[in-house]
Amino acid sequence: MINVITKKHWFLRIFPSAFLIISLYFIPVSFLRAQPDGAKLFKANCSSCHRVDEKKLTGPGLKGVFERVPNQEWLYSWIKNSSKVIASGDAYATKIFEDNGKVTMTPQEHLSKEQIDAILGYIKNPPVSLAKPPDPIPNPSSHEKTKDDNSTFYFLIIISALLFVTILVLSSVKNSLQNVVNAKKGLPPAPEFGFRESIGLWFQNHKVHTVLIILLLVLYGSTKGWYALKGIGVYQGYSPAQPIKFSHKIHAGQNQINCVYCHHSAEKGKTAGIPSINVCMNCHKGISSGATTGTSEINKIYEAAGFNPETQKYDKPQKPVKWIRVHNLPDFAYFNHSQHVVVGKQQCQTCHGKVEEMDVVEQKSPLTMGWCVDCHRTTKVASSGNGYYEEIHARMKSKNDGKDFTVAENGGLECGKCHY
Ligand code: HEC
Ligand code: HEC
Ligand code: HEC
Ligand code: HEC
Ligand code: HEC
Ligand code: HEC
Repeated sequence: MINVITKKHWFLRIFPSAFLIISLYFIPVSFLRAQPDGAKLFKANCSSCHRVDEKKLTGPGLKGVFERVPNQEWLYSWIKNSSKVIASGDAYATKIFEDNGKVTMTPQEHLSKEQIDAILGYIKNPPVSLAKPPDPIPNPSSHEKTKDDNSTFYFLIIISALLFVTILVLSSVKNSLQNVVNAKKGLPPAPEFGFRESIGLWFQNHKVHTVLIILLLVLYGSTKGWYALKGIGVYQGYSPAQPIKFSHKIHAGQNQINCVYCHHSAEKGKTAGIPSINVCMNCHKGISSGATTGTSEINKIYEAAGFNPETQKYDKPQKPVKWIRVHNLPDFAYFNHSQHVVVGKQQCQTCHGKVEEMDVVEQKSPLTMGWCVDCHRTTKVASSGNGYYEEIHARMKSKNDGKDFTVAENGGLECGKCHY
């Protein structure tokens, strides 16, 4: 009875597959792209002062904030411009302002309502790895439960439901056609099939389509999952405005101040460090105005150091500068500056770009695992005249017939070297 539908109705046969292919490949793109990325927006605009768990930074931890604040509208106005809300005499606003040492939150007028919604969504459902301390060796599955993956998942459910309905409709159309044909031939009406039977039958009789559908689902799931995984936590191009308009172009570029004059621990330890305000004062006690910003920015140095330019004494209270962190690896990854700068003899610029030409620092490298590993695969260890690993290096070289070897060959791809 299956082949009764004649070639005229070929479109009925390919319709479900065509429908599925089209939906899978066109709708999800707009569906996923339409949503601003809450994680990125949060990191760019809020993470310098807030965490999504209960821990306080400059601002309160945002876990459970939805239960604390008066209402959703309040949140929009507060996030856009908290000073306005405080100025309006709002009781809750005044209270948290005072509870948090009267620190004013940066106004975020540039954020659209959709973007704020995305941020709030992210605060509501932060990735698991942020909410609890990471496993010693991170478990990739804990990274999959993010928003992107959720929407993909819901989308697949919707698609499956649509496919389901389509199959139902088609099988009933087919049944009717069959009955018309049967009636003409004077045969009894075709037997009615139950719900599950008709679906089973459809798949049985459309083996090619079934294989295609399964292949597509697998392909779709894995590409989306892969991109979602790759995209998490990549903040290339991140370039936040700093509390003092410090310019590397003026200092490291025009005035040729050595990077390690300020970032002195880059040669000694794990972190490069941000210089303390005293380092600025070494020069700025004397230089009280700049060519582009006059006294306004340099006065902030004085305020931070508790320095009074009139008396030339440190007779005021200090107010530490809250520099906003640009580069930030997840806690579970270990990176050591001195190992790269001193032992590996890598230039700052290889990883950070031409900082000496930047007025505002920008993250130039993706800081992903792939980025680390690619360099380890291709970079030869600077073994000659390198006291640090002399013995190891000599041994490696003799194993390698005196040829240079890459970081990878020296164990630079072992998980435990970069993950605690
Ligand atoms: C410069 C630091 C800073 C930045 C950046 C910042 N906040 Fe805040 N935020 C605060 C402080 C401090 C408070 C506490 C109230 C006060 O002192 O003004 C606060 C309070 C809040 C509150 C109310 C918390 C509560 O417990 O009721 C929310 C919600 C909030 N911020 C959301 C955001 C969001 C969303 C962003 C990013 C778009 C952001 N904040 C960016 C410093 C900041
Ligand atoms: C006069 C002091 C000074 C010198 C010289 C200097 N820096 Fe900095 N650097 C700072 C300060 C202050 C900050 C924090 C504010 C900012 O991000 O602009 C900073 C931030 C950075 C950051 C971003 C840190 C983060 O939060 O991720 C990088 C990368 C950096 N510097 C690299 C360099 C390199 C490379 C050089 C040499 C070409 C250099 N710096 C020279 C003072 C200095
Ligand atoms: C080794 C000396 C030296 C150190 C250390 C130093 N500066 Fe400067 N800074 C200068 C010079 C030189 C200028 C250029 C003054 C001019 O424009 O004539 C300058 C200019 C500035 C300006 C004004 C820029 C403008 O054009 O308006 C600011 C702001 C500033 N520095 C901030 C800082 C901060 C913050 C630190 C500490 C992280 C710091 N500087 C450390 C030498 C230094
Ligand atoms: C092999 C790549 C690489 C090189 C070379 C390198 N950095 Fe970094 N730098 C990083 C990474 C990765 C981070 C983020 C570290 C983290 O979050 O733990 C970082 C972070 C920083 C920071 C931010 C805060 C901190 O203390 O870690 C500063 C400042 C910095 N680098 C300056 C420098 C300077 C100055 C040099 C040259 C003397 C340099 N870096 C060389 C990769 C590099
Ligand atoms: C620009 C190239 C470059 C990049 C990018 C880079 N590394 Fe390296 N790394 C090196 C070199 C060169 C060495 C070898 C140092 C030596 O001679 O022992 C090294 C060594 C290491 C070691 C020590 C390996 C060992 O065998 O003891 C660790 C750990 C490490 N890197 C972690 C990282 C991490 C984490 C990142 C990414 C955040 C990273 N590296 C990015 C060049 C790089
Ligand atoms: C050269 C350093 C390095 C080595 C070697 C390394 N990793 Fe990573 N890994 C990283 C960095 C850096 C990150 C954080 C990247 C990010 O946030 O995008 C990371 C992230 C991860 C993640 C989290 C997934 C993600 O993309 O965020 C997993 C899982 C992981 N590594 C497993 C491993 C395993 C398993 C090995 C050994 C086969 C290994 N790593 C070797 C540097 C390294």
